[in-house]
Parts: sequence; C-alpha cells; structure tokens
Amino acid sequence: MAEDSLLRGRGLTKRYGGVTALDDVSFHVDAGEILGLVGPNGAGKTTLVDLISGAQAATAGELVLRGARLSGPASRRARAGLGRTFQYPQLALELSVRENLLLGRAARRHATVWRMAAGAVLGALRPDPPADRAAVEALAAELGIEGLDRLAGDLTLGEQRLVEVGRALGQDPVVMLLDEPFAGSDAQGVLGIAEVIRTVQRRGHAVILVDHNVDLVAGLVDRIMLLDRGRVVFDGDPGECLSSPEMQTVYFGSVPDADELGEETGQIGEEVQDVRS
Ligand SMILES: Nc1ncnc2c1ncn2[C@@H]1O[C@H](COP(=O)(O)OP(=O)(O)O)[C@@H](O)[C@H]1O
Ligand SMILES: [Mg+2]
Repeated sequence: MAEDSLLRGRGLTKRYGGVTALDDVSFHVDAGEILGLVGPNGAGKTTLVDLISGAQAATAGELVLRGARLSGPASRRARAGLGRTFQYPQLALELSVRENLLLGRAARRHATVWRMAAGAVLGALRPDPPADRAAVEALAAELGIEGLDRLAGDLTLGEQRLVEVGRALGQDPVVMLLDEPFAGSDAQGVLGIAEVIRTVQRRGHAVILVDHNVDLVAGLVDRIMLLDRGRVVFDGDPGECLSSPEMQTVYFGSVPDADELGEETGQIGEEVQDVRS
C-alpha cells in the first residue's frame, strides 16, 4: 500500500460478542480514487464504513487520514474530512429538504449539529449565511433535487437518499463513504449519485462506494475490494474482480473445475448476469 495514501486502515477488526464482523482488514484509498467495496450480505461492508466514520469503535486496528491518526467520535472525524451516507437514510424527517442540505454546510463549522435535537439544529443554523443558502440551491440543481421546501419525511426512499448524499457532499468531505446509495433510487437518483461521485473525484478527494451489486460498482470505480465473512478476498482491477475465482467462490459457493468449465461456461455466464442485474 502506498504510504502517502489519503486514507488507510491496518488490521481493522470488529467483534460483536461472538461474531467477528471484520477480521484483520487492511485497505487504502488514494486521492482522486473511487474504491468499490463489495461483498454479499453480512460480509462486513457496513461495519468497515462504521469503523472508518466512527459510528462504531474498532476492536483492533488503526486508521490514518492524510498522515494523521484518525480516532474519536464521528463528529470529530466529520470535521477531519469524512463524509458518509447510511444504508438506511438518516435525515431529519421533520425538517425540510433545504434545511437538511443546510445541515451539511453547517457541519463543516460545527459537526456537533448532528447530535442536537431538530429544534436546536434550526437554532444553530439561523441565520443561514447567504453563501450557504446559495450553495444549497446550486447543489440541489446539480443533483436534480426539486421541491426544497418539502419535508424530508414526505420524500420517497430514493429522494431521501439523494438528499442525504447531497448533505454529505455539502460537507466537502475528503473521503466520502456511500453505503448502498443506489438502493431504492430511480434513474434520476442514480444519475444524481453518479454526479456526486464524479464531483468528489474532480475535487481530488476519494469515494468509497459500497454495494452488493458488483456489476454496477465495477462500472463506476477505479478499484474493487471484495469482502467475504469479514476478510478481504480480492483487491484490484474491477474487470479482473468480475472474472476472478474469488468472485465465483463468494457469490456461487465454489470454483468450477477445468472439466466443468468447458461445458458450463455459458451457463455460468448467465448466472453472473442474473446476479449482476
Ligand atoms: N450492531 C451489531 N451487533 C451485532 N452484530 C452485528 C452488528 N452489526 C453488524 N453485525 C454483524 O456483523 C456482520 C457484518 O455485518 P455488516 O457489516 O452489516 O455486513 P454488510 O454491510 O456487508 O451486509 C454480520 O454477521 C452482522 O450480523
Ligand atoms: Mg451493509
């Protein structure tokens, strides 16, 4: 791994009681890089995002962001430059879309807004610096988010996701962690999220894109890390990942031997298509 990586983790382990959710995982992501984090349900993807963002404390291991040890609560890590979205969107449902997006801008100044009750959050945001309001309007236009005065609680799941991604982008994170951002999204949502990923990369920052759909991820990222039962089983080129024995083993349970391959390559190809679609 490159010593000058933007973010790197070493020996990250997380145990929940008797369950080892993450087992001695090391990784890195470089400036301007989009890293795909894939693997089946329960592989440990969200756990890794939780350890990086500070939502969960690691049982063992260390993280280094831009040469400095990354530790402490999620609020401190947000100020250090980590932005994230959640597998299940966590917007302030009683606030408007505009206010939720403003929260992302406010978090750049005081990350503790995340912990305040909604009323206090509004107080902390008032008066909104005009620059923030203009930035939020521009951000919404860029992502295709309409109806800024609607309550977040009235949005579809896909719309909530897009707003959450927008809120995270408003923090201008150095590393953006997106946990299954496409689930529940319609075509507009997918385009908006893809635009966010490109924007972060254009800024020279990094994205860690989590999804179980390897085919979707492979088309968007520079490199893929495949997790299985808490361990990294593949780390490399997205195209190579799709055709790797590790991918076959993780998603189909076994690697076909040479004899079978001759006869069944076509069939396996179809199965891969099924899984990817
Ligand atoms: N808060 C938790 N308490 C107990 N077990 C957990 C918790 N979070 C995750 N796990 C377990 O850790 C493993 C990895 O889960 P997770 O990181 O959510 O996987 P993924 O996001 O890849 O689907 C699973 O076995 C899951 O049941
Ligand atoms: Mg998950």
